[in-house]
Amino acid sequence: MGQSMVSEIAEAGSMAEITYRSTDGTATVVDVPTGNSVMRGAVVNGIRGIVAECGGGAMCSTCHVYIDESSGAPLPKMSEIEDELLYSTACPRRGNSRLSCQLPVTDELDGLVVDLPERQQ
Ligand code: FES
Repeated sequence: MGQSMVSEIAEAGSMAEITYRSTDGTATVVDVPTGNSVMRGAVVNGIRGIVAECGGGAMCSTCHVYIDESSGAPLPKMSEIEDELLYSTACPRRGNSRLSCQLPVTDELDGLVVDLPERQQ
């Protein structure tokens, strides 16, 4: 990434630091510009483990993540559509399951940690 692009992003808004943890224990920390989704932050940065087949349209459930609730980041309430889709994930739904495309990145999400499931399909 060139320096000019970095300043363009910085001028466009603030960033939130999101950590994506794989099942092998690899943790990738990414500064995601606010206004993106947690899913988009993974896809744009080439993080394996998020497929996002529908591109964020709440139709596929291949952006499933497990929220590390100890990070304390406040998340938006789950919609009915997200709730229904979470019953069709490739890996088991847990109490901390969310669809990452339904999580808009805000300043408050700074420090969020998500665990990626073993597979999405
Ligand atoms: S990317 Fe398809 S439901 Fe999230």
